[in-house]
Amino acid sequence: MPEIFGKPLVTQDAMRVRIRELGKQISQDYQGKDLVVIGVLKGAYVFFADLVRVIQLPIQIDFLIATGTKKVGCPPKTVKVWTELTEKIAKRHVLLVEDIVDSGLTAQYLVSQLQNHKPASIEVCTLLDKPAHREVEIQVQYVGFEVSPAYIVGYGLDYEQKYRNLPYLAKMDSEKVEAES
Ligand code: IMP
Ligand code: MG
Repeated sequence: MPEIFGKPLVTQDAMRVRIRELGKQISQDYQGKDLVVIGVLKGAYVFFADLVRVIQLPIQIDFLIATGTKKVGCPPKTVKVWTELTEKIAKRHVLLVEDIVDSGLTAQYLVSQLQNHKPASIEVCTLLDKPAHREVEIQVQYVGFEVSPAYIVGYGLDYEQKYRNLPYLAKMDSEKVEAES
């Protein structure tokens, strides 16, 4: 698999350093607050596991599985949420953890759905931000890395549900991937 993708877009060392910084910032910002950290599956599963382990607060965690109809370079037309939360979030602080904010449609939809539960606050944390593709305005409080418009796989991010298990982030060259598969 690694031969297809070449060098990591972000090294594992740089990733570890940045995620530790995010954890420190989140720990400071939510000191003394009742925080539920919600991971958006499947894409955020690797980032989420690394992030929550560097948040030094007694948080609770929960997950949502969300999908969007999406092709490379096109925003999702619709967002579908497949699961319910198991934790109550009313009057509690919520941090929604995404793999990547691209058009912003997924994050915007999930935030609007979570608002219905009347939390005390909701913020978004994303490993990657692709501001060049943004179609809707959404405030992203915590960003790991800002990236160019290229399609990225690995470290939880997929192309047609594959390559989530690549241990690092890599730009995808669809011609090379299709030739190998
Ligand atoms: P949105 O356009 O911000 O709604 O992003 C929708 C979803 O598309 C994200 O949560 C990702 O799962 C996926 N996505 C967007 N850009 C990429 C990418 O470069 N690689 C892999 N998945 C992506
Ligand atoms: Mg995804």
